[in-house]
Amino acid sequence: MSNLVLYRKYRPQTFGEVVGQEHVVKTLVNSIAHNSISHAYLFSGPRGSGKTTIARLFAKAINCEKPATGNQQTVTSFEPCNKCSSCTEIMQSRSMDIIEIDAASNTGVDNVRELIEGIKFAPVKSKYKVFIIDECHQLSKSAANALLKTLEEPPAHAIFLLATTEAHKMIATITSRCQRFDFKKLQVPEIVKKLEYISKKEKIQFEPSALSLIALNSRGSFRDAESLLDECISFSGNIGTIKTESIKELLGIVEVGQVAQFVDYLVQKNTKDAITFIGTLVDSGVDLQEFTKTLVFYLRQSLLLKINPVYLNLQNSGFSRDEIDKMKAQTAGFSEVDIHKLIEMFIDAENRIKYATISQLPLELAVVNITYQQS
Ligand SMILES: Nc1ncnc2c1ncn2[C@@H]1O[C@H](COP(=O)(O)OP(=O)(O)O)[C@@H](O)[C@H]1O
Ligand SMILES: [Mg+2]
Ligand SMILES: [Zn+2]
Repeated sequence: MSNLVLYRKYRPQTFGEVVGQEHVVKTLVNSIAHNSISHAYLFSGPRGSGKTTIARLFAKAINCEKPATGNQQTVTSFEPCNKCSSCTEIMQSRSMDIIEIDAASNTGVDNVRELIEGIKFAPVKSKYKVFIIDECHQLSKSAANALLKTLEEPPAHAIFLLATTEAHKMIATITSRCQRFDFKKLQVPEIVKKLEYISKKEKIQFEPSALSLIALNSRGSFRDAESLLDECISFSGNIGTIKTESIKELLGIVEVGQVAQFVDYLVQKNTKDAITFIGTLVDSGVDLQEFTKTLVFYLRQSLLLKINPVYLNLQNSGFSRDEIDKMKAQTAGFSEVDIHKLIEMFIDAENRIKYATISQLPLELAVVNITYQQS
């Protein structure tokens, strides 16, 4: 296996390889194919959902010397060739005409302003000069002003691709000059599919449930999923099949089964076993904040399930059929109001764990509170 970290190695190099985000890819590809490119795009969405990936792909596609144009009906009707000098330069991050700025690490730096103003000069060799500005909402004031001025009268060769995880923090005058795309958080099955693909390519065997465990713990971020996969591979030393058990150990991950067990104790108002359970978590090195997060996630799903079973479907919840059945049985013993109270209490506990001297105390107090309540 090469040293390249997985998330770099498997960054999609064609539009066809992008998972999900169909609405974005389709619109962008069509605009290239029909020669109706905008000067500014805003990509907003959660981390690891493909904003940088698609920005680079777009920059590559519009500057490609030999793009592949195919069937206009399919998403992949316009792909960069990945062979011409423009494509290779962009892939090796040495193109003079693609300028990437991370506003998060460059705030207040005045040369960002100069860089942005520099877009008025013609591209060195490409058709378009492309600016990719990451975490754009964090640009310094002077840089944001320079950007705004350029967006008011962009030179014909200039393209701005702005990416942000917090679109609401962007200045409205900038946003209104951009064509906006909202990236979706990726679903567990979409992430699993790519993890399967990567492990096949890397010739590494995983138990199927191991990959969904990784996907579940990446909270919809491909980058996190791929980094977790990396960790698991180096942890297991590339030999044999990687087991769910060892991943749990490695990541201190909490399994849904454990959370369900804990909720059982709460339903039964079994204070003693619930407190012992928390002690066991601490002893086995589980991150209590992570556990509580998973617990809140689980309770939210239980609440949704109670309100209407169709909210919790097998495809996108990340839960197995057995787990959903178990949840159904559990929620029979709770009213919506009960679950609401539990959620409030554990959100509160999660916040307090950060500052607690005895890290398990907030959880223990919540348990006592819940199990001693009159029903
Ligand atoms: N939609 C996607 N399809 C396939 N892989 C993706 C997708 N989004 C992210 N990835 C993977 O995650 C990594 C990080 O994605 P990136 O585009 O940098 O995310 P961000 O939205 O934070 O800019 C990529 O290198 C790629 O391997
Ligand atoms: Mg990014
Ligand atoms: Zn090319």
